[in-house]
Amino acid sequence: MAEKGRFDNPVSAALAGVKDLFRKQDLADDYTDALRADGKTVLITGASSGVGLGLAKDLASRGAHVIMACRSRIPEAMEEVKAASGSERVEIRKLDLADIDAIHAFCDGLRDDGVRLDVALFNAGMAAPGARRTASGLDEIFLVNYLSKFITANRLLGDGVIPNNAAAGNRGDGPVPRMIYTSSDSHQSASAIDFDLFGKYREYGVNKAINYYSYYKLVMNTFNTELSRRLAREGQVDVSVHTFCPGPVNTNIVREAPGWLRAILRGIFTVAFRTPAQGAMPGTWLATSPSIEGQTNRYLHMLNRKEMDPKVYDPEAGKKLWAASLDVWRSVDPERARAVV
Ligand SMILES: NC(=O)c1ccc[n+]([C@@H]2O[C@H](COP(=O)([O-])OP(=O)(O)OC[C@H]3O[C@@H](n4cnc5c(N)ncnc54)[C@H](OP(=O)(O)O)[C@@H]3O)[C@@H](O)[C@H]2O)c1
Repeated sequence: MAEKGRFDNPVSAALAGVKDLFRKQDLADDYTDALRADGKTVLITGASSGVGLGLAKDLASRGAHVIMACRSRIPEAMEEVKAASGSERVEIRKLDLADIDAIHAFCDGLRDDGVRLDVALFNAGMAAPGARRTASGLDEIFLVNYLSKFITANRLLGDGVIPNNAAAGNRGDGPVPRMIYTSSDSHQSASAIDFDLFGKYREYGVNKAINYYSYYKLVMNTFNTELSRRLAREGQVDVSVHTFCPGPVNTNIVREAPGWLRAILRGIFTVAFRTPAQGAMPGTWLATSPSIEGQTNRYLHMLNRKEMDPKVYDPEAGKKLWAASLDVWRSVDPERARAVV
């Protein structure tokens, strides 16, 4: 799943993250109060905690109407965002990405309420202590960190909740909507997508968990890149698709690590890692910066422009991933699985 190296175990990954903190941030001067989101409707998944909660506070205070999609802390997380931002234009909706029926119910709700998003931040993610079978039969990390993104993108584009011309034909001439994915630079250490085993449930333990985390970020980035191609035909960007790594951030991401490991990681996270507000900065920049209007498939590592792993850009891998993802979705959800672009 991943080559030996800097992201091979959680402690070396955390220490690699500390090293990243000393890198120069080339967009730091561009992250200012002038970045505004007035009049924009912004969806943020995983907004109950960590980077997602930081994004919700930041974008609400920049004028956005924020829709928080959360599995827990309803409505406490929304109250926290309203208090921190001073904005009442914040709502919260239930979303459990490990449950395919719940994903559809969430998407149906947005469609039925006539929501039209300017920005969708697909931020929710988890680090599991090992394989865990969901009701659909899929491994939880595969579903939450990857396939749910494929399903949600197709549902929201197909229903015109993310306005577009490719699938729903209703975008019009306004600003180009933006789809933004929270990833991890650890994807750079993952090996190529294994299409023979793609989506198949296998048992593994905590020693492999970090490898799967990085691997599914590589899978997700390959999907984002393929989606960006499908949403930019003949040189015209219909919907922008961007990706960022927040860098090392002191959040709840290690909540499921075994006790002894959690204690070590918590120590490193508390002493050395960035705050969720800092982790949110690249997401806010991608959501609001006028400098990337109409562009697509930009990647930020913290506030640095960067390239993703070269494997992510392979168009053949992108096409194969699209087909394999649709096959897995069909196998667990045959009535509703449909790729729209
Ligand atoms: N922290 C870092 O150093 C770091 C570095 C690189 C990338 N990232 C990425 O940043 C993103 C946010 O993570 P974080 O660090 O902010 O961790 P976090 O504090 O644990 O937040 C994760 C968010 O995802 C939500 N989530 C998890 N499983 C879900 C599910 N089944 N359905 C719906 N929501 C679910 C969580 O909801 P609950 O609170 O209900 O569980 C929470 O809101 C992730 O994609 C992560 O991979 C983090």
